[in-house]
Formats: sequence, structure tokens, C-alpha cells
Amino acid sequence: MAATNESKQQTQKKSSNTSGRSQASQQKGSSQNSKGQSKKINAPAGTKSKQTTSEEQKQPKQQKIRTIDQIVETEEMQSILERSEKYLTSGYPVHFTGAAGVGKTTLSFQLARRFNQPVTLLNGNESLSNTDLLGGRIGYTSDKLIDNYVRKVYKREDHITERWSTGRLLEAVKNGHTLIYDEFTRSLPSTNNLFLSVLEEGILPLYGTQRNESFITVHPNFKAIFTSNPEEYAGVHKSQDALLDRMITIPVEDPDKEAQMSILKERASISEKEAETIIKALDWAKSTSRENDTHVPSFRLAVMTAMLSSEHDVKIDVKNDDFQQLFFDVMGHYFLGNIQGEDVSEAQKRMKEELKKV
Ligand SMILES: Nc1ncnc2c1ncn2[C@@H]1O[C@H](COP(=O)(O)OP(=O)(O)OP(=O)(O)O)[C@@H](O)[C@H]1O
Ligand SMILES: [Mg+2]
Repeated sequence: MAATNESKQQTQKKSSNTSGRSQASQQKGSSQNSKGQSKKINAPAGTKSKQTTSEEQKQPKQQKIRTIDQIVETEEMQSILERSEKYLTSGYPVHFTGAAGVGKTTLSFQLARRFNQPVTLLNGNESLSNTDLLGGRIGYTSDKLIDNYVRKVYKREDHITERWSTGRLLEAVKNGHTLIYDEFTRSLPSTNNLFLSVLEEGILPLYGTQRNESFITVHPNFKAIFTSNPEEYAGVHKSQDALLDRMITIPVEDPDKEAQMSILKERASISEKEAETIIKALDWAKSTSRENDTHVPSFRLAVMTAMLSSEHDVKIDVKNDDFQQLFFDVMGHYFLGNIQGEDVSEAQKRMKEELKKV
């Protein structure tokens, strides 16, 4: 169960680095950035700097693996976490719903952490099948035993054993994991039907798996956290009322300005003023979206801008060309969508002038 282990490792990593405002303020002035990685510091006078050997020069640059390793628990988030923990402990699943980038997945992982048990992550999608969830027959193993030790006696035995894979839901239900089912409405309602009896009767039916048992009983530690985007988003199936009726749905909204600033400051180790600049730039980018456009730049892009500026020493200033370029690259998808009949570079020039006034 590679995915299960991955999620487990990720959760453990995060647990060891649970942060709050206090930890961030302690880190200020230290030589570590928000991710606990050493920042470049000038060597004290008289110290020899380390010579880079040609071997080291040949090493390819290590790509960063981004994990949610610096969670800022805003007041709103704490309240949701407290309530959700109670509901899950009492055996009721919770469902976080809200627009893209408001922090639903972050919240789910942060909640899962509280239970200190393995986490299974499922991502909703059209092709998720019952076999992915429950498992199924993946083939046969055959063994042959040929015994010709005793002269003139020839004995041959064939053993054919069925090989089964265990689906992710079956694994989680059987072993008492915390299941995070991210964007569950993207899966077909017929696939999600499996959850009805898990959530209501505490059993997982093993339809179509051709196993001997017809269902398994849900482990008492099993907990389920669902997330979804509101239904107006394209490509999303209407959530099934019966399923929603069995879970506690909590709306998640964009963190307020103060919370957004805290997240940016902490995640990217930037100043209050720099965080404010990025938030203002994001607000401006949102204002350029066309009317009736439900897909507007999300807070996630502000986090990306802050992290990239911090890691690549780009001065966060709307008048700085490098910052402008970075911001346009990060927001590129939205800006390109808004250019109508205009030359791309001309439009960028115009928008950069507008950004300077933010
Ligand atoms: N409380 C927080 N502390 C630190 N970072 C946060 C917090 N909330 C959100 N973020 C960051 O904001 C970005 C968006 O969060 P997340 O991916 O959880 O949103 P989402 O609602 O699941 O989005 P989507 O609907 O697109 O999946 C991520 O980069 C995440 O790390
Ligand atoms: Mg998400």
C-alpha cells in the first residue's frame, strides 16, 4: 500500500513539525527558513568558506518536494478542528466544502494528525472504481511439484492460488485508518455508493469482489474526512443527497486578511509589509477577472508567489521587474484567460503598469 505509507510518512513528518505562531516567532532571526532548511549565511570573518569540489559541482540540483509542513492554525481553523475532532470521535464523518485554494486539504491533514493513526488518502476522479476501493483478483500463481525421486514413480501436483489486491477503502476500513477522501464529488456517484453502508451501518459490502465473505465490519478507529468544491464547478458530479445526509458538512472560506498575512509570513519567512504587498497584488489580480468568472486566482497562488520570492531572493515590491515577472508567471493562467484580441506582450506590459499602482 504505497499510497497509505506515503500518507503516513507525510503525516508523521508534519506531526514532528507542527507549528504555531509561537514557533515562527522563535525562528525569526535564526539561520533556518520556514521549512527548517538552512538559509545561506555569510561566513564569519577569518573562516574559510568550503571549497566546492568538481564532484559536487557535477551533482544535479535537488528538486524540492513540497509538503504542507508549516500550518498556521488560524482562529477559524482551530474552531473547525475542535468541532470536527468531536464529531469524528463520536463516529460521524466530516465534509469540508469550499472554493479552490481555501485550505480544505490542509485542514483535513491537520485534523487527521490529531488522531495519531495511519492515514489513507483517496483522490476523487471519474475513473476511480470499486476495484480501486475494494480490491479484486489480479491473477493466479501456479506451483508445480514434481516428485520423481522414487524410481518409476512419477508424482505431479499443481497448485493454483488466486492473487488478490486489497483496495484502499478496504484497507482503511479493516485496519482503522483515518481516510481523507479529497474532492470526492469528482468520482462517479455509483462508486461513492459504497460509502453509504460504511457510514450508516458500519459495514463495507464486498460486491463484485468474488470473495467468500459478503461484507466486512468497519474498525472502530476508522474515521472519514471528505472534501469537495461547490457544485457549480465544472466536471463535478452532483453530490448524492443520501451520502451528504450521513456526514457533517462544514463550509470553509478563504482565510481572512490577517490570517492570510500570518500564513504567508510564516510559510515564506517574509515581513508584514511583504506579505501585505502579495495580498494586495492577489486582490488586484482577482479584480481583473471577467464578470461571472467563478474561477478566480486562489490564495494558493499568493503562497506560491511568497515561497518563490523568498527562496530565490526576489525583492517583494510591485515596482521590481523580477517580482512582476514572477507574479505574472504564477498568475499566468488567469491573465492569459483575460487577454481578448490583444497582443500577449502588449497586454502584459499594460498589466505590469497597473500592478505598479497597487
Ligand atoms: N492554515 C494554513 N497554513 C499554512 N498554509 C496554508 C493554510 N491554509 C492553506 N494553506 C496553503 O494554501 C494553499 C491552498 O490550500 P489547500 O490546498 O489546502 O486548499 P484546498 O481548499 O484544498 O484547494 P483545492 O480546492 O484547490 O484543492 C496551499 O498552498 C496550502 O499549503
Ligand atoms: Mg485540496
